[in-house]
Amino acid sequence: MTAYFNGRFMEKDEIRISPDDRGFLFSDSLYEVIRYYPGLLFRPEAHIRRLNHGADHLRLACRNFSHLIPVARDLIRKNHLADQDALVYIQVTRGTAPRNHAFPDPAPKTTVYMCVSCFDPAVKDRQRKTGIHAITVPDIRWARCDMKTTGLTANVLASQQAAEKKAGEAIFVRDGVLMEGTHANFMAVFGNTVTTAPLSNYILGGITRETVLDLCRELNIRTSQEPVYENRIHLASELMITGTTTEITPIVTLNTKPVGNGAPGPVAKALQAAFSSKIKQMQKQDPWFSPMKKGENSLNHSENP
Ligand code: PDD
Repeated sequence: MTAYFNGRFMEKDEIRISPDDRGFLFSDSLYEVIRYYPGLLFRPEAHIRRLNHGADHLRLACRNFSHLIPVARDLIRKNHLADQDALVYIQVTRGTAPRNHAFPDPAPKTTVYMCVSCFDPAVKDRQRKTGIHAITVPDIRWARCDMKTTGLTANVLASQQAAEKKAGEAIFVRDGVLMEGTHANFMAVFGNTVTTAPLSNYILGGITRETVLDLCRELNIRTSQEPVYENRIHLASELMITGTTTEITPIVTLNTKPVGNGAPGPVAKALQAAFSSKIKQMQKQDPWFSPMKKGENSLNHSENP
C-alpha cells in the first residue's frame, strides 16, 4: 500500500514514526476518516474544514490542510482503488520533541500521515437494512468532543462494552442527555421531527449529520437540534446513528428494549434512500475521476514548507 508521510508518498510498511512523536506520547493529534465511493470522494472540503478547526484550537504549526485533498485522490489512484469503495485516513500530530507536556519551543514540524484502505460495505449495508442494537453508557469523555482528536480511550472502552453485549454502537449519555455514539452521531424521531443534539463542545459536528439534516429539509421532514433526554427516549418512534462508515443506520433496540416496533422505521428508510440518490448524483457530477493530467502533482504544497 502506498501511503503519505510528511510530504512524500511511501510504502506504508516503510514509514517510521518516532517514539517521541506527540501523537504517540500524548494523543496530541487529530484525525479524519473520509469515505470514497467509486468516483466520489465524499465532501473532503468539510472534513478538511473540521481538521483545520481542530488544528486552530490545538495551535498546531500547520493549521490549513487543504493541500491534502489532492493527496487523498492521488492515494486512491496510486493504490488502484478508483473503482472501489474505500476509506481515506488522515492523522496529524503536533510533531516530534522530547517529552514535556507544554508545547515544544520552537514548534516542531507537524507530522502528517495519510493512508487509504478498501472498505467492504457489505456488513454496514446489512446493518442499515436490519438495524443495530445499541446500549447507553455514561459519557466519560472530555469537554472538547468537537475536535476529532485521537484521544479515544473512552470511545474504545464504550465500543468494547457494546461489542461484549452484541450491540453495534454505544450512545454516550451526559447529564441525562443522549449525545452521540462512539463513532457516529445520534438522532431520534419524535412524532414527525428528527431530533439531534445541538452542536456544542460535547459532540463532534458530523459531516453525515449535516448532510442528513439537509436531506430532511429536502424531504420536508422537520428537524430540531435540541437535547434528546434519556427519560423521554421511550417516546421516540425511531432512533438512528449517522456517520462516515455507518451512513444512516437505524437502532432497533436500545438497552434491549425495542425502539418503535423493533424494526427500521419509515423516516430512516426515506433518509437512506435519499442519501443513496445523493451519492449517485454526486458520483455523476464529481469531475476528479478523470486520469491525472500531465504535470499535475499533488505534492506541490506541503504542510511544512
Ligand atoms: N467517526 N461522532 C463521533 C464521536 C465520531 O467519531 C464520528 C466519526 C462521528 C460522525 O462524523 P462523520 O459523519 O463526519 O463521520 C460522530 C469516524 C468515522 C471514525 O472514528 O472512524
